[in-house]
Amino acid sequence: MKPVEWLGNKLKIVDQTQLPGKLVFVEFRSYTEVVAAIKVLKVRGAPAVGVAAAYGIALGAGDIQAENKAEFLIQLDKILHAFASARPTAVNIFRAIDRMKKAASAADCATIKQALTDEAKSIHADEEAATERLSHIGARLIKDGFVVLTHCNAGPLATAGYGTALGIIKAAWEQGKKFEVIATETRPLLQGSRLTAWELMQDNIPVTLITDSMAGYFINRGKVNCVLLGADRIAANGDTANKIGSYSLAVLAKENGIPFYVAAPTSTIDLSLKSGAQIPIEERNPEEVTHVAGIRLAPRDVKAANPAFDVTPHKYITAIITEKGIVREPYAKNLKRIIIEK
Ligand code: MRU
Repeated sequence: MKPVEWLGNKLKIVDQTQLPGKLVFVEFRSYTEVVAAIKVLKVRGAPAVGVAAAYGIALGAGDIQAENKAEFLIQLDKILHAFASARPTAVNIFRAIDRMKKAASAADCATIKQALTDEAKSIHADEEAATERLSHIGARLIKDGFVVLTHCNAGPLATAGYGTALGIIKAAWEQGKKFEVIATETRPLLQGSRLTAWELMQDNIPVTLITDSMAGYFINRGKVNCVLLGADRIAANGDTANKIGSYSLAVLAKENGIPFYVAAPTSTIDLSLKSGAQIPIEERNPEEVTHVAGIRLAPRDVKAANPAFDVTPHKYITAIITEKGIVREPYAKNLKRIIIEK
């Protein structure tokens, strides 16, 4: 099952909003459809939205009718802008846009179109390779008998590749280690219960689903050996934005003396931001809080807030697992070093 697949002149994705009830594939022929799919989380997860955005840009570029290169680039800019405004927190979309911009330096329009398609495929291949590699690197942190608590969804669906946090879990399982996973349901959109529980069950990895508010109970009773989750953007000092609720888990982990691991490809690291305070946090529709699966559960007109991510200060993070190795404090020095080294 390929969560994101390029079919030459169209993009095919798993519609993640339909899981776990139905495994539905949808195909897009225009970039506007891809932007809309990213906004409503049909495709979601930091690396996966980066890959989908890259293919979306290639689709949009393919449809440009321009007399000359200057006109082509004006129209391309409009497409890039649409993707840049789709979701603000995950840096992977912006990384993809930067790479696609560079690929658009070819001589004529036809060559640019081909270069953009090639670059999108290359971004996808890079994410697949990076997530598989970091998963095998991180697997050594999981020991026999462990209970690993994970939050949100950081599996193949979220990465268009092997997975990050769930990739590590999968790699450790494939190595024959015996352990269990606790997945938080991840309110408000339930990526943990709808996607993580489903992906782990597909691989026959033992998983127990809990509500987000139960995490402290299990951690405090010594029932969890480590917290392991993904990231949407990591600032130069190691501060990490991830799904709302990650920060609370980090504080719980530190208070109870268990490691808190972040798994992410280096494409998620944003050295241009000094600290997490500069990471833009997406505010989503309050209806995602007042409603579940379209059913209102809160009083009509109640005020609701819906920040989709929070930032975990680096002091709570035991290690960041990347395809270039496991990085620990001092993050400011060590993240820079792994980005610079080939
Ligand atoms: O809003 P989402 O579902 O796109 O948020 C996803 C997450 O927060 C994931 O944990 C993160 O992107 C890591 S995915 C490998």
